[in-house]
Amino acid sequence: MIVVIKIGGALIAKNFNNVIKDVANIVSNYRDKYTLVIVHGGGPQINETLKEMNKEPKYFTTPSGFTTRYTDQEAIEAAIMVLGGKNNKRLVEALQKLSVNAFGFTGIDGSILEAIRKEKILVMINGKKIMKRGEFSGKIDKVNTPIIEFLLQNNYLPVIGSLAKSKDGDIVNIDGDRAASNIAAALNADILISLTDVEGIYKDFNDKSSIIKSINSHELEEFLDELEGGMKKKAHAALEALKIGVQKVVICSGLTETPILDALKNNRGTVIH
Ligand SMILES: Nc1ncnc2c1ncn2[C@@H]1O[C@H](COP(=O)(O)OP(=O)(O)OP(=O)(O)O)[C@@H](O)[C@H]1O
Ligand SMILES: [Mg+2]
Repeated sequence: MIVVIKIGGALIAKNFNNVIKDVANIVSNYRDKYTLVIVHGGGPQINETLKEMNKEPKYFTTPSGFTTRYTDQEAIEAAIMVLGGKNNKRLVEALQKLSVNAFGFTGIDGSILEAIRKEKILVMINGKKIMKRGEFSGKIDKVNTPIIEFLLQNNYLPVIGSLAKSKDGDIVNIDGDRAASNIAAALNADILISLTDVEGIYKDFNDKSSIIKSINSHELEEFLDELEGGMKKKAHAALEALKIGVQKVVICSGLTETPILDALKNNRGTVIH
């Protein structure tokens, strides 16, 4: 079965070695059962790169309550360095060291991910709706699968950084979770595993015993407004994945020793079906 794994930037910083070892173990011992594709982000590393450039990362809240990065010219430069460079190549390097034939690229390469650029975004500033221009982010529109399929058929492990190509051919930043959802759907994946830095979705974020073990998309849709921050976006992306054909989405912690194998074997975290 095809398994798409989304690795967040925070996780790359926190539990890199275990995640890599887990992937390598699955590739060498469960090759007949699972075919893996990795999609990664790089939020914290983009912020670090911006700071090295003496720039401040900028975030806004949209009128519907999503927190979103303002990807101006400087931020897209940093995103290219991280998603097409350091994060992607360090993942490939670490996997290659464990004899996994990882192949890293972003959505601009071979025009694999096409997006509609959001040239302007409506954001809330001091309670007022303001239009911001010069934005280099996009909403994924099309996944061109032949190259990914070629790689899978030839036992390469695709490692995909979340950048895409706009209609005008510009590189745009795309949300990692939504990239993973769209790639999973385009590949008819059986499961999308979103590895993050919490156990899953909590009913009440302040009560760690309120973890939701299983939820269907209707229930999650009702619950969406209660969620905040990255989890709101992630839940939204999970619903999108299910809507466009992925069988099952698991949101779980990537901070354990074998996070992916655990998610595949024991239905850990929050299972959305
Ligand atoms: N009800 C909730 N349950 C779980 N997490 C929540 C909830 N509400 C808000 N969160 C926040 O959502 C975060 C996870 O989303 P976040 O976007 O930070 O991680 P990621 O997607 O794994 O990484 P990245 O965005 O860097 O790729 C958690 O660390 C937590 O702080
Ligand atoms: Mg996120």
